[in-house]
Amino acid sequence: MFAKADINAGKALVNQNCISCHASSYGGDGSEIYTREFAKVKSSKGLLAQVRNCNTMIGLKWFEDEELNVAAYLNQNYYKFDH
Ligand code: HEC
Repeated sequence: MFAKADINAGKALVNQNCISCHASSYGGDGSEIYTREFAKVKSSKGLLAQVRNCNTMIGLKWFEDEELNVAAYLNQNYYKFDH
């Protein structure tokens, strides 16, 4: 699903837009939200959907490929879904 994604581009987008809010609600460097025991996200499809939710919530209006890049970055570093 993430074969064509640009992981580095996704990483830059996450660092710019996504970390501060997660860090202020969940502490640490903001990455705990992805690895918490009861993580909501259970599949790469679900991950993409959640990226879209947070993105819409903050009104970034990303393109679909940007959402995909971000989901791919989070998947490679935290979720590690293989399908
Ligand atoms: C304004 C605050 C805020 C911002 C900014 C934000 N998020 Fe979130 N995010 C949340 C909250 C709150 C949750 C937990 C939602 C829940 O538990 O229902 C969450 C959950 C998530 C999860 C699911 C974690 C899990 O349980 O597996 C992902 C993935 C995620 N956010 C990605 C992003 C991305 C990507 C961005 C940048 C576009 C982003 N978020 C920006 C508040 C934010």
